[in-house]
Amino acid sequence: MKNMTCIEDLRQAARRRVPRAFYEYADGGSYAEQTLNANRKDLEGINLRQRVLVDVSNRSTATTILGEPVSLPLALAPIGLCGMQHGDGEILACRAAHAAGIPFTLSTMSICSIEDVAASVDKPFWFQLYVMKDRGFVRSLIERAAAVKCSALVLTVDLQILGQRHRDIKNGMTVPPQWRLGNIVDMASKPLWLLSVARGKRRTFGNIAGHVRGMENFNSLSHWIAGQFDETLSWKDVEWIADQWQGKLILKGILDVDDARMAAKTGAAALVVSNHGGRQLDGAPSSIAALPPIVEAVGSSIEILFDGGIRSGQDVMRAIALGARACLSGRAYVYGLGAGGQAGVTRAIEIIRNELDVSMALTGVKSIGEIDRRVIAN
Ligand SMILES: Cc1cc2nc3c(=O)[nH]c(=O)nc-3n(C[C@H](O)[C@H](O)[C@H](O)COP(=O)(O)O)c2cc1C
Repeated sequence: MKNMTCIEDLRQAARRRVPRAFYEYADGGSYAEQTLNANRKDLEGINLRQRVLVDVSNRSTATTILGEPVSLPLALAPIGLCGMQHGDGEILACRAAHAAGIPFTLSTMSICSIEDVAASVDKPFWFQLYVMKDRGFVRSLIERAAAVKCSALVLTVDLQILGQRHRDIKNGMTVPPQWRLGNIVDMASKPLWLLSVARGKRRTFGNIAGHVRGMENFNSLSHWIAGQFDETLSWKDVEWIADQWQGKLILKGILDVDDARMAAKTGAAALVVSNHGGRQLDGAPSSIAALPPIVEAVGSSIEILFDGGIRSGQDVMRAIALGARACLSGRAYVYGLGAGGQAGVTRAIEIIRNELDVSMALTGVKSIGEIDRRVIAN
């Protein structure tokens, strides 16, 4: 892993190691991928301000998220089918996050279940909830997350309907999945991946299989899930969720100031400025463009987390400088997982940590609390 010096190296390694359908499922965005690309382009367009001759010894990247100490202003984002990038992917990523002193978020659409992950790690993790039409099932998911003492519930609010990802359709990542000869040959040519998945605990949606009657195999499960996205979802449902969940609530997927104001009124502990990594509304602004007005409108009343396009410590610094408390990493760690399992996720976090630390030194700041608009050059 030492030769992996940046997230792009991990991405290239994942591209070689993971079957194309799963790699592109992670790498791609919706429609023309304008928002996916804007997330990166707009972050890259923010220049950092080089400062010299400032004593930057004894720096620290430590801070808090939701009042909990973390070694770095970063958490791992919820990723559906994470365990198809590498067998037991959710468990491995959670272990890497915890060893690095940052939170991990388990997706509703994970391969390993809430209970699998809880039994394999010794610290609480965050659980991400999709509200499905079957509210009884939603309630049971919340109860299961509470039973294993998840430390936050991340309610995703930007997926009442699925944005289309052209690459997924072309690769047969559809409902039901299409097991084409090309996919099978491709999988057979990725022996390390095959081995890891064969050894993994599960190969289907672990939170759902066995918990909804008659839903056992991948085909029936993916049909059930596709029919469960709820177009009626509204702020009333957020209230309902808040009533069910006694712990900290995070609303993920806010991109608009008016929605941020509504989110701040719900009593949630935090919101995540996010466009789902450019996988939902194509043509929506980049997350980093949406961040400053949201911080200005509600930053004093709710903690503001950020995701979308984070591929380096410099990117984390840019988002913190514009008012985020911390960032969520999606693809950056997924590439690490595909490239090398737990060691790859550990490497992804290390890369971001080292880049952030050196960038702090070169912009003349010693603590996360000192990072503000003064570190930005333009
Ligand atoms: C492969 C993949 C699967 C995802 N699955 C989920 C999910 O199950 N739940 C969710 O709230 N967000 C999901 N997201 C969105 C991420 O949590 C996060 O918002 C996004 O990846 C951040 O952008 P980045 O990948 O550029 O860091 C997914 C993203 C990717 C790339």
